[in-house]
Amino acid sequence: MKSIREIDITNKTVFIRVDFNVPMDEQQNITNDTRIQAVLPTLRYALDNQAKLIVASHMGRPKGKKLPELSLKPIAKRLGRLLEKDVKMANDCIGPDVKSLVSAMKTSDIVLLENLRFRREEQKNNDKFAKELASLCDVYVNDAFAVSHRVNASVVAITKYAPVSVAGFLLQKEIGYFSKIMANPQHPVVAIIGGAKVSDKLMALANMLDHVDKFIIGGAMANTFLKSKGYGVGKSKIEENLVEAAGSIMKKAAKRKIKFYLPVDAVVARRFDPKAQTKLVPIQEIPENWMAMDIGPATSLLFSEVLYDAKTVIWNGPMGALEIDSFSRGTIAMVHSVANCYALTIVGGGETDIAIHKEKADDRITYISTGGGAFLTMLEGKTLPAVAALQNCEKKMDK
Ligand code: 3PG
Repeated sequence: MKSIREIDITNKTVFIRVDFNVPMDEQQNITNDTRIQAVLPTLRYALDNQAKLIVASHMGRPKGKKLPELSLKPIAKRLGRLLEKDVKMANDCIGPDVKSLVSAMKTSDIVLLENLRFRREEQKNNDKFAKELASLCDVYVNDAFAVSHRVNASVVAITKYAPVSVAGFLLQKEIGYFSKIMANPQHPVVAIIGGAKVSDKLMALANMLDHVDKFIIGGAMANTFLKSKGYGVGKSKIEENLVEAAGSIMKKAAKRKIKFYLPVDAVVARRFDPKAQTKLVPIQEIPENWMAMDIGPATSLLFSEVLYDAKTVIWNGPMGALEIDSFSRGTIAMVHSVANCYALTIVGGGETDIAIHKEKADDRITYISTGGGAFLTMLEGKTLPAVAALQNCEKKMDK
């Protein structure tokens, strides 16, 4: 991928695709602006180089409907404050109003387009729509790592029509860290994989067999692995159809002498409810009508010991039902174990990121990815479609 730094952007209209899909509360207050802060280096670079900036993003999944609660207006305000500049908000992402707003732009002006997903064509990777977006600019920059696993018009098809397509600093940084841990990591490499479903993580686990020395498994997905070992897990969530696949991953790991750690105790409850009574039990003693909601303290201690000699740690997915306080302790303990590691630590995924920020441990983690699905796609060993699109442009330019 060519970098924004390698081309001349002075006086050019630069279309920067970012991922401003940030969490907001019911009053549309931004509750975490990490994804906005993460692209400031690219935006500041473009401003310092006297470009005209068109910034574009999606928010949520409006599926072609103009939902006011998914407007990017609150983002324009926050971005303006962070950059200490006026950010003009467009009322759409294409169309005559946007065209005239863009043609009136002066050097170092910024226009934020309205939510790209208010147009159904965005998620259909529609060519006509992509062409219209591209017609707004001289240079297209992808700095939206977190959505680069989607085949969407503003990250894939647009590269066919923009005069020049390059990567922004965030995209380069995310891919750079990943290549570093995958291609030439310091061993032992430990992968901590959590979250609700094995089905979401199966491909990542299979690919990671080629890269890691130890696996730590937490979250509800651990139940399916425990079941495959023959343990009763009460009423805990399991994916019956994946019990065999879970067993096969463990067998493959054992063949390669990869250590495989599962929870040894759990916080259990009868229902998914903050008010529900909870108990702490050894993993082999989950009562019939109870469900595992979080890893217990013995597991937290075990997992932290497993990390003592790690040189590289990759973490994706919470250890329990993080949204309920009484089931969040396992994930919080893991935040501190990872933060205290004498290792290169890389964390990805929205929920894990929230726990790290809540614990103010972000400055003790080597790298926190802005991507959830994109991070997981990389763990699966796949090239992100938006990255492949940029690489194709580069190949065409070379010819
Ligand atoms: C994310 O939050 O993971 C990205 O913004 C992608 O969003 P999506 O899962 O709705 O495509």
